Amino acid sequence: MVGINALLKAFAASTVASISVADAATAEQWRGRTIYQVLTDRFARPDNSTTATCNTSDREYCGGTWRGIINQLDYIKDMGFTAIWTSPITYNFPNRSEYGDPYHGYWQQDLYRLNPKFGTPDDLKALSQAVHDKDMYLMVDIAPNHFGWPGPSNSTDYSLFNPFNDAKYFHSYCPVDDYDNQTNVEECWLGDEKVELVDVNTEDPAVVEIYNTWIEDLISNYSIDGLRIDTAKHVSKSFWSTFQSSASVFCLAEVFNEDVSYACDYQNHLDGILDFPLYYWIIDFLGSTSGSTYSLVNNIGNLRSSCKDVSLMGTFVENHDLQRLAYKTNDMALAKNGLAFTILWDGIPVVYAGQEQHYAGGDDPANREATWLSGYSRESELYKLAAAVNQVRNYASYLDPAYLSYNASLIYTDDKTIAFRKGYDENQIVSVITNKGDATQDWTLSLENTGWGVGTAVIEILTCETTTIGDDGNLVVPMSSGLPRAYFEAGKASNGSICSG
Ligand SMILES: *[C@@H]1O[C@H](CO)[C@@H](O)[C@H](O)[C@H]1NC(C)=O
Ligand SMILES: *[C@@H]1O[C@H](CO)[C@@H](O)[C@H](O)[C@H]1NC(C)=O
Ligand SMILES: *[C@@H]1O[C@H](CO)[C@@H](O)[C@H](O)[C@H]1NC(C)=O
Ligand SMILES: *[C@@H]1O[C@H](CO)[C@@H](O)[C@H](O)[C@H]1NC(C)=O
Ligand SMILES: *[C@@H]1O[C@H](CO)[C@@H](O)[C@H](O)[C@H]1NC(C)=O
Ligand SMILES: *[C@@H]1O[C@H](CO)[C@@H](O)[C@H](O)[C@H]1NC(C)=O
Ligand SMILES: *[C@@H]1O[C@H](CO)[C@@H](O)[C@H](O)[C@H]1NC(C)=O
Ligand SMILES: *[C@@H]1O[C@H](CO)[C@@H](O)[C@H](O)[C@H]1NC(C)=O
Repeated sequence: MVGINALLKAFAASTVASISVADAATAEQWRGRTIYQVLTDRFARPDNSTTATCNTSDREYCGGTWRGIINQLDYIKDMGFTAIWTSPITYNFPNRSEYGDPYHGYWQQDLYRLNPKFGTPDDLKALSQAVHDKDMYLMVDIAPNHFGWPGPSNSTDYSLFNPFNDAKYFHSYCPVDDYDNQTNVEECWLGDEKVELVDVNTEDPAVVEIYNTWIEDLISNYSIDGLRIDTAKHVSKSFWSTFQSSASVFCLAEVFNEDVSYACDYQNHLDGILDFPLYYWIIDFLGSTSGSTYSLVNNIGNLRSSCKDVSLMGTFVENHDLQRLAYKTNDMALAKNGLAFTILWDGIPVVYAGQEQHYAGGDDPANREATWLSGYSRESELYKLAAAVNQVRNYASYLDPAYLSYNASLIYTDDKTIAFRKGYDENQIVSVITNKGDATQDWTLSLENTGWGVGTAVIEILTCETTTIGDDGNLVVPMSSGLPRAYFEAGKASNGSICSG
């Protein structure tokens, strides 16, 4: 794939030299990563099957494992991703519930056993080793907020839980039913009588100590580089502060809330948060051809002034809890703009497996399609786009790590199109993102303030066409079929083997 392997090899020695199997990775080391999210059960089977059935509405285990992921790591790496995020690894309840099997891993009952459906301890260690051998990072999901119980609260058998094998380790039952009451959100139980998420008492010092020791050991036993933290807003912030220091690796928290000040405060306790506010603004913009740039353009300043560090936030447009972008619109140009924006905007890009294959599942469980049914095609238009865009981001941040903390500056906006510059001096990427869709007429944009001087040769990395900054200092961008554009200085691009393949 367009020289990516060669490129990564060329700069592996410096940017990722510090990765070894025993090293945990810090926030600083994660800033330049791009993450590919897999549901372990749905990404790859150990038999490498591309035909095994997986009916999402059955909510059953479909056979994906850690060994399966190992076999398909090149598919991920060749798309330019430098990290994977997998499902939770701990033991879940063995029962089939009224909401099906815990194939997603969020219904744990034992912190010290692994989910046998995903493999053995040796398999997980082998995955970690294989990921590190490819100079990638391993992020695993964890859900300290709760334990899973496949029945009503009053039937909970605490003796089945480990190590919290007694009701005293949990909050007493009340349902989370008032999101305006943070005590209710933190101390009551998610779920319902079909599957209860038995709420761990994370204010109890005994629980805090067990969790802090557990996470240190888990990270060390399996050489984990980072954590994605499920349902973080349902646990008190004081718990997270000590947990973050015990973990000592980068933590990326799910704070499922559109409100900027609500979400941003969690970044004062954990390294990073998934950028849900931005997600909603992207959907307002790219969720349909009648969308608008308004939310993004008008709210981005508030996000930057409220959050501690937007370059450590996870930027995404899909995940396993949300309708896929292609469910909202089947317009391929919008899919391409959404994927390009995710990787080229501020933050750590997070792409959910299947997005590169234009999967179109709606609400959970339909959005948990088996990736293998795509045949892991590297010919799909979105796979190729992800590879090209990741490559230029990886290269720009390799040449100048300050690229990553340069807050993208909007150099053009109208209701349907934005252009932005990200990166200093001659090391910027200038991108154009639009929601006009693939049926729109061709048009031309003339961009000021790209930061490039008259006569500079720049290359558009998705078409590989070269152009020169005009005498008026403007970059003239031919827009066609509603496709996104991304420019980089041509001289640097050729050195980085961008557009060479
Ligand atoms: C699955 O793929 C891996 C990696 O390509 C290969 O080593 C292994 O032999 C394959 N396994 C099967 C059962 O085909
Ligand atoms: C998937 O499972 C659902 C529910 O069990 C069933 O209604 C549907 O027909 C199945 N779909 C396929 C393609 O087998
Ligand atoms: C789930 O399965 C376990 C082990 O078979 C059993 O002990 C437990 O009672 C079951 N739970 C429910 C709610 O049926
Ligand atoms: C347990 O709760 C269910 C409703 O969730 C109720 O129908 C049942 O009577 C309760 N059982 C006991 C023993 O309280
Ligand atoms: C908030 O929720 C807690 C736990 O459910 C409850 O005890 C408390 O009364 C609630 N406060 C208000 C103001 O509703
Ligand atoms: C880590 O490994 C040690 C030694 O095998 C074991 O005692 C401990 O339970 C493990 N902890 C976790 C969280 O896996
Ligand atoms: C970029 O945004 C961050 C907030 O994430 C802010 O702290 C920083 O000052 C901004 N950088 C510049 C150069 O404005
Ligand atoms: C070209 O790329 C190599 C690594 O691939 C790097 O060492 C070198 O500094 C780059 N040169 C320029 C002019 O960017």
